[in-house]
Amino acid sequence: MVKICCIGAGYVGGPTMAVIALKCPSIEVVVVDISVNRIAAWNSDQLPIYEPGLDDAVKQCRGKNLFFSTDIEKHVSEADIIFVSVNTPTKTRGLGAGKAADLTYWENAARVIADVSKSDKIVVEKSTVPVKTAEAIEKILTHNSEGINYQILSNPEFLAEGTAMQDLFKPDRVLIGGRETPEGRKAVQALKDVYAHWVPEDRILTTNLWSAELSKLAANAFLAQRISSINAISALCEATGANVFEVAYAVGKDSRIGPKFLTASVGFGGSCFQKDILNLVYISECNGLSVVANYWKQVIQINDYQKNRFVNRVVSSMFNTVSGKKIAVLGFAFKKDTGDTRETPAIDVCKGLLRDNATISIYDPQATEDQIQRDLATNKFDWNHPVHLQPMSPTAVKQVSIAWDAYEAAKAAHGLCILTDWDEFKELDYQRIYDDMQKPAFVFDGRDVVDPEKLRAIGFIVYAIGKPL
Ligand code: NAD
Ligand code: UGA
Repeated sequence: MVKICCIGAGYVGGPTMAVIALKCPSIEVVVVDISVNRIAAWNSDQLPIYEPGLDDAVKQCRGKNLFFSTDIEKHVSEADIIFVSVNTPTKTRGLGAGKAADLTYWENAARVIADVSKSDKIVVEKSTVPVKTAEAIEKILTHNSEGINYQILSNPEFLAEGTAMQDLFKPDRVLIGGRETPEGRKAVQALKDVYAHWVPEDRILTTNLWSAELSKLAANAFLAQRISSINAISALCEATGANVFEVAYAVGKDSRIGPKFLTASVGFGGSCFQKDILNLVYISECNGLSVVANYWKQVIQINDYQKNRFVNRVVSSMFNTVSGKKIAVLGFAFKKDTGDTRETPAIDVCKGLLRDNATISIYDPQATEDQIQRDLATNKFDWNHPVHLQPMSPTAVKQVSIAWDAYEAAKAAHGLCILTDWDEFKELDYQRIYDDMQKPAFVFDGRDVVDPEKLRAIGFIVYAIGKPL
């Protein structure tokens, strides 16, 4: 029986390993983590992450061929294939602060592998890492253990949160990069054999290590670039009377461009787009390619601009002040169908409104009160000026409350901001919301959730990203 161990039981490690276990009954999969709480949650009925379809998959194989454990050393030493799916955040201090990937977690994982391994191992980079990380890992492993052959593979993950299970069941492609040596090719084949249990062979791509590492950064940069492009156009639409959704439809009908990832919004969020583009920027700078670095930086600058623009629109529409006014915020997660709030645009929008002394009532179907309060109390790290942290005043955070539903959040509010595209926000009784709000009642739709004309007929003053005012 092939044994797989995955280091890191997060948004990627958990769902990915659940699908491998489900599709490969002959393989034993153990997911390990340093977080005792996370592992306890994976072993309970309340999984640590919300992802449609994940509960079912875990229930079907947990205790059979899928296990969650904190005994990292034991399971690493017993495994044939070790996936490393630890977090790789942006460095916040020291060399490369604000851009470079912080590989501390990765390096710690590699040192454990070197310490406990007694047999040959295939080590798979599942985390998103800078190009050439495999070389660094190889050095750590080979310099810290003798007589053991390590093959490092790059197998980046392309799943998106909220659709992780369907992305894993039917991936557009699985990418495996390895050394172009007989041992390297054998390791690539061993990993291919795992995926071949359910992924058609023509969707399993193999490349050299550096192409695989770079493809992941490039794919995220391209996706984010499309959003920033359409968001830039949304500002122009508001200025000219064009409708960005009509423009996106017309543009996306060109089969060379395609319709996906052209939905204008208050800005992209999530733990990866910004981090991975900054990573790309840093690698470009390190290689003397400052023009390339500046090109990709613009994608993030437009994203910051879009969030600021939204806040300015709220404040300027409400007679240039939101001081003392209650603003209802519908949606805090960075997208629908997840409770994840990492880098959500809602953090920047709420902080912007708090700086103008608003009182905020937030409702999100999945993000927890603790998480929201923590996000708003944490000083914002400014990627462009990493030494400056923008402090939040403690009193501002006291002006935030969490509501149990949208109606409670909106009660007696002057304005309503829609910041996540949850389906349930489309179905709300906006007449009831209007009746309970202060007048004039404002709606600011950052997610193309409402029909502005219908809401205007009720009496709302509506501002929707990229649509005629
Ligand atoms: P996460 O923070 O949810 O999970 C990482 C886990 O690794 C944490 O539970 C942490 O406790 C654990 N960990 C850290 N160091 C460890 C160590 N030395 N030993 C054992 N456990 C350790 O992160 P994530 O969202 O799953 O992302 C992981 C990687 O995958 C990142 O590089 C990310 O860029 C990439 N990625 C994420 C997504 C996504 O949708 N979240 C998609 C594709 C790729
Ligand atoms: C993204 C990629 O889609 C995945 O392929 C990748 O594996 C992952 O990053 C990663 O490396 O972490 P994710 O961040 O989970 O996945 O979610 P997306 O669906 O890409 O959305 C990211 C953000 O962009 C969200 O805030 C979303 O609302 C926003 N978005 C997306 C738009 O504003 N407009 C769009 O048209 C699409």
